[in-house]
Amino acid sequence: MMKTIFSGIQPSGSVTLGNYIGAMRQFVELQEDYDCFFCIVDQHAITVQQDRLALRKNIRSLAALYVAIGLDPSKATLFIQSEVPAHAQAGWMLQCVSYIGELERMTQFKDKSAGKEAVSAGLLTYPPLMAADILLYGTDLVPVGEDQKQHLELTRDLAERFNRKYNDIFTIPEVRIPKEGARVMSLQEPTKKMSKSDPNQKAFITLLDEPKQIEKKIKSAVTDSEGVVKYDKENKPGISNLLSIYSALEGISVADLEQQFSGKGYGDFKQAAADVVIKHLAPIQERYYALIESDELDQILDEGAEKARFRAGKMLKKMENAMGLGRKRK
Ligand code: AQP
Repeated sequence: MMKTIFSGIQPSGSVTLGNYIGAMRQFVELQEDYDCFFCIVDQHAITVQQDRLALRKNIRSLAALYVAIGLDPSKATLFIQSEVPAHAQAGWMLQCVSYIGELERMTQFKDKSAGKEAVSAGLLTYPPLMAADILLYGTDLVPVGEDQKQHLELTRDLAERFNRKYNDIFTIPEVRIPKEGARVMSLQEPTKKMSKSDPNQKAFITLLDEPKQIEKKIKSAVTDSEGVVKYDKENKPGISNLLSIYSALEGISVADLEQQFSGKGYGDFKQAAADVVIKHLAPIQERYYALIESDELDQILDEGAEKARFRAGKMLKKMENAMGLGRKRK
């Protein structure tokens, strides 16, 4: 039987080059060999307050980008999390098998709650909802960026715990992290990961940035004063990040790039890096603008939600039966 893949992206901003290189780009190859479910996880996005109109816009935009990068709705199921209620239902059950201590230990929770006075409970209980997203589809493999590795380990722990305590119904999913570009860093603080919700617009490149903006952001990316194009994550995080982005997009090794740019200054290197990013995003943007206002996009999402509801509904029943909720149903 074909193996199943699940992955999701939050519509918490405009999709960045980090989301693309770390996660989305892999989806396109995977749809050929796996039964794929790619989700717009809007319920995760509301763990921090969102402007309602901006959220709506970001949801639709992410859906159009899924298709624009090359996902084919006849191969992969594309859908919006809140349109499949089983996610929230299963998320609650998995919260009940999670321990507060293990949730408090998640680095993303620590990062996002640090220094804040009012932290939503959802920010703490987001990993069990993510576990539900994955486990509902009997997922074998989850392609994500490195930042999600810890949440994936928790998902495996929760699945094993549920299987042991209730009934052995969940497949234990494996994580799949890309070799190149698993962690794209901020252009302004290259020791921090690139994030779509970064308040500093210059820190990230979105898939919809115009060529001029891309050039400007890369040219003003923080580097060092050495003036040598060389990969050294410790001492030259800015240049190393640009080298990784270049390498991931073009499929040229970092060593080859170092050689290609030896004796050249940062100005030349940054221009070349900007050109590469612009070249890769141009066809995606073209497809995006053809789709964004179309009825076709709504049709894709309607069909995706229906397929997802069918599949997730079956696992939800198994979970309810295993835990003894409601009345026994087939
Ligand atoms: N900087 C990154 N480098 C590589 N991969 C990344 N991902 C995120 N940032 C990078 C991967 O993108 C997928 C979707 O992530 P998400 O939207 O679910 O949440 P996130 O990891 O919290 O991403 P952001 O962009 O940082 O969003 P905000 O700012 O809202 O928190 C995941 O597979 C992730 O690994």
